[in-house]
Amino acid sequence: MKINVKVNGKKYERDVRENMTLLRFIREEIGLTGTKEGCGVGECGACTVILNGKTVNSCIVLAVEADGAVIETIEGEAKNGKMSKLQNSFHEHHAVQCGFCTPGMVLSAKTLLKENPKPSEHEIKEALEGNFCRCTGYQQIIEAIQDASGQMKK
Ligand code: FES
Ligand code: FES
Repeated sequence: MKINVKVNGKKYERDVRENMTLLRFIREEIGLTGTKEGCGVGECGACTVILNGKTVNSCIVLAVEADGAVIETIEGEAKNGKMSKLQNSFHEHHAVQCGFCTPGMVLSAKTLLKENPKPSEHEIKEALEGNFCRCTGYQQIIEAIQDASGQMKK
């Protein structure tokens, strides 16, 4: 089946199998491998992308369901080789260790800050509920998001 999507501002038209996940489509058809595959069953958030403004676990969305959609992946964050404010903040707060969860964390945080520019710690934790990190213990990630939202005294 033919689908059309816009990923990070660029249009793609591809023939896909009906059972292909959006995750595989992004990684294998489009070649954007920043989106990670962890559990593959919708539980870890490593595969998070933004689909029409909302975060989704791309491992449990079919590519055909995304026909006509606007998709943002981690590759869309940096502009002209410069990291986004959120990416910088993750870097400064040592919120990245192995980095496997980071693309999903950054995109979940981005969606949160768009909807709620000054989230409380509790709201940050709620927004990250579906994103697992096995390395950082979460505190640095929370601080990175607080800092990116201008809520941290320096
Ligand atoms: S790989 Fe999609 S939620 Fe874990
Ligand atoms: S930095 Fe390793 S899983 Fe989060």
